[in-house]
Amino acid sequence: MILQAGGITHYYKNDLALDNVNFEAKKGEFIAIVGESGSGKSTLLSILSSLLLPSKGELFFEGKAYTLIKDIDAFRQKEVGFIFQFHYLIGYLTILENIKLAAINKNSTYIDTLFEQCGIEAIKHKYPDEISGGQRQRAAIVRALVNTPKIIFADEPTGNLDSRNSQTIYKLFKTLSKSGTTIIIATHDRHVSDYADKIIEVKDGKII
Ligand SMILES: Nc1ncnc2c1ncn2[C@@H]1O[C@H](COP(=O)(O)OP(=O)(O)OP(=O)(O)O)[C@@H](O)[C@H]1O
Ligand SMILES: [Mg+2]
Repeated sequence: MILQAGGITHYYKNDLALDNVNFEAKKGEFIAIVGESGSGKSTLLSILSSLLLPSKGELFFEGKAYTLIKDIDAFRQKEVGFIFQFHYLIGYLTILENIKLAAINKNSTYIDTLFEQCGIEAIKHKYPDEISGGQRQRAAIVRALVNTPKIIFADEPTGNLDSRNSQTIYKLFKTLSKSGTTIIIATHDRHVSDYADKIIEVKDGKII
């Protein structure tokens, strides 16, 4: 098991957002968290990815408790990749410069391979506002992959894409998961069931 979470409960002030959630992910598994707006998907994803500390509960990465990970910054930078609904690429930098900003190892052969894999090698010298939404989203995926993370977390990665672009991204996630990267995404899009290994539904802060 690469990731295990037990008894995760989270309150925002006095409002219960997650209620005693258990979660497990195996290496190379592609898991989709689905559910209505406000059900708790983003909260769960933020907690699983170590960005948000839960009010209660335990988390383990490769059997080690998150609270025992000495350098959480290095953990977030090296072991985990994040993709958010809004890509947060820097508008003053080209796509390649954005990627290099995030990369620990600036080796361009490896970065070029990722661009090819994501099908956006042609736009690497363009600026974020010169390319399409789908290309920006794929650029954000390249950035998430650049430090060869073991797990990728994505919150609504296809939120503003049409179905053809969404499918390209799901296919890419599927390929990545087959080569051993664990993928955990939150989405409204039920079409993800054609690609994911496991679908988890959240309702009112509980897994159903
Ligand atoms: N920063 C916050 N402060 C207070 N309440 C919050 C905060 N973030 C989320 N909530 C509340 O927690 C609950 C779960 O929200 P969450 O964002 O996890 O839902 P979601 O399933 O991701 O929804 P969506 O599909 O709209 O993104 C909701 O009731 C929401 O209003
Ligand atoms: Mg959300």
